[in-house]
Amino acid sequence: MLVSATEMLQKAKAGHYAVGQFNINNLEWTKAVLLTAQENNSPVILGVSEGAGKYMGGYDTVVGMVNGLIKGLNITVPVALHLDHGSYDHCYKCIEAGFSSVMFDGSHYPIAENVEKTTELVAASHAKGISIEAEVGSIGGEEDGVIGAGECADPQECKAIADLGIDFLAAGIGNIHGKYPENWQGLSFETLDAIQKLTGDMPLVLHGGTGIPADMIKKAISLGVAKINVNTECQLSFAAATRKYIEEGKDLQGKGFDPRKLLAPGFEAIKATVKEKMELFGSVNKA
Ligand code: 13P
Repeated sequence: MLVSATEMLQKAKAGHYAVGQFNINNLEWTKAVLLTAQENNSPVILGVSEGAGKYMGGYDTVVGMVNGLIKGLNITVPVALHLDHGSYDHCYKCIEAGFSSVMFDGSHYPIAENVEKTTELVAASHAKGISIEAEVGSIGGEEDGVIGAGECADPQECKAIADLGIDFLAAGIGNIHGKYPENWQGLSFETLDAIQKLTGDMPLVLHGGTGIPADMIKKAISLGVAKINVNTECQLSFAAATRKYIEEGKDLQGKGFDPRKLLAPGFEAIKATVKEKMELFGSVNKA
């Protein structure tokens, strides 16, 4: 059964570890993330961007697939199904469709409008027992058409949004989606520290988990980050493993073209990436 992400993230914040949000794209992705969570006895959050939701045929398909896999694969660790960078309208769609968590990304609105829309969505999601993440200060880079400049959040604005009853808060601290450029300045721990001081027990979310060095991840967790989002890194490992299979001509040997064989190395590569992240984030055996 799907659960809201509130309890798992409160436990993570109190226990000084983070739960991974792994974005899903299809059946292989979803199966790989769920099985790895189960094998490592770790809570997990499945992230679905609006673009990925559309690609998979809509939110009803996603909810049906995830619930079916949880049952069919005997997944017993806590799993949250979470809308990633949701617009106002899509938050409502996911609340209706059976997601257990949503993110309202109102970071591109003026703060007063972000506050107003977030307040309304907090009430709508909590009425159904669904957790809600909000964002202040845009995350840099591009994800599924959502483009952010990557500025650091204003800690006072973070407090204003955190006080609206949200369950966890994404705050820009110099993190960006996708690969980090050579000249990246690193995370702003000064900003993170200031945000955590003003927001207290609120679990903080670090987007753009791909390519952040392990020591920065650990420091971010020590400063209150309890949820870390990873998307691109699973795509890169899936693509590299699939490329290798084809370059070695394995699809041309026997029935190597069978999709269950063709996609198997990519599937295993996603599992390895997810396991590595769960170990780094400290969520292993925390289910
Ligand atoms: P990456 O693609 O950089 O891992 O970021 C994922 C993310 O933040 C999803 O919201």
